[in-house]
Amino acid sequence: MAQKIIIDTDPGQDDAVAILLALASPELEVLGITAVAGNVPLALTARNARMVLELAGHTEVPVYAGCDRPLRHTLVTAEHVHGRTGLDGPDLPDPQMPLSEGHAVDFLIDTLRSEPEGSVTLCPLGPLTNVAKALTRAPDIGPRIARIVLMGGAYFEVGNITPAAEFNIYVDPEAADIVFKSGVPLTVLPLDCTHKALVTSPRNEAFRALGTPVGIAVAQMTDFFERFDREKYGSDGAPLHDPCVIAWLLRPGLFTGREINVEVETVSDLTRGMTVADWWGVTDRPANALFIGGIDADGFFALLTERLARL
Ligand code: BDR
Ligand code: CA
Repeated sequence: MAQKIIIDTDPGQDDAVAILLALASPELEVLGITAVAGNVPLALTARNARMVLELAGHTEVPVYAGCDRPLRHTLVTAEHVHGRTGLDGPDLPDPQMPLSEGHAVDFLIDTLRSEPEGSVTLCPLGPLTNVAKALTRAPDIGPRIARIVLMGGAYFEVGNITPAAEFNIYVDPEAADIVFKSGVPLTVLPLDCTHKALVTSPRNEAFRALGTPVGIAVAQMTDFFERFDREKYGSDGAPLHDPCVIAWLLRPGLFTGREINVEVETVSDLTRGMTVADWWGVTDRPANALFIGGIDADGFFALLTERLARL
């Protein structure tokens, strides 16, 4: 039986590739997509999610709009990385499919209450506002969640939006704090892992060579997205952060990590949103997350290319 997932997301080119990977994978059943404000404002993330579903021919998957701002802070966006629309690169048409009625937080709560306990995995790919709101408003859903597998945080790689913090956690650290303290089993794909999943030129040409609308659009997305990382890190291509979440569900053996304690800094102006990861076990704080550090990047890109070819 396919594993049921809900993707909570702020597309984002790498979010888009993650959604495509999930849709292309028969091991997974995408119950819905919940949009959150992050890389760009909510109206655009909710729009971009539907454009990706239409590109993949999967308009049966509902898209719900969620929170338009973090729990406490003003929204910080990342047009400098993702472009004005959040999905700059390919020339995709405006979506025809409507948003589903209702708020994403209600969809999360209702779905987790109605599906069998322990059968639904949440896959957050953006700031954790929707997930934290659902957990706060309906604490009974916590024990019903099979696992939360999220992209966010960093330890050895430190920050990409500030010297100390990764973007998704930085945008809504209070929400991240709620999720990391929730007691729900967590898998965290931080920059330590995702910065090793680089779309080098040969890997991007493999997407383009699929010759399909999906393959070509993905190549165009990463063409756009990579200019930022080339300039900033001097790396050979962009890190495909968010697809690592879906790939971990499909092939956990491609990844290595440790069960450790991770806490989120919410108070300090200097290090707000930092994920303080006890990688070396120097505290006696209990482990609350599987924190991923390593990835077989060739295996990851082989899986991704093979799956995108199916759409
Ligand atoms: C994360 O931030 C966003 O820009 C990406 O989509 C990814 O989820 C990387 O820090
Ligand atoms: Ca994202």
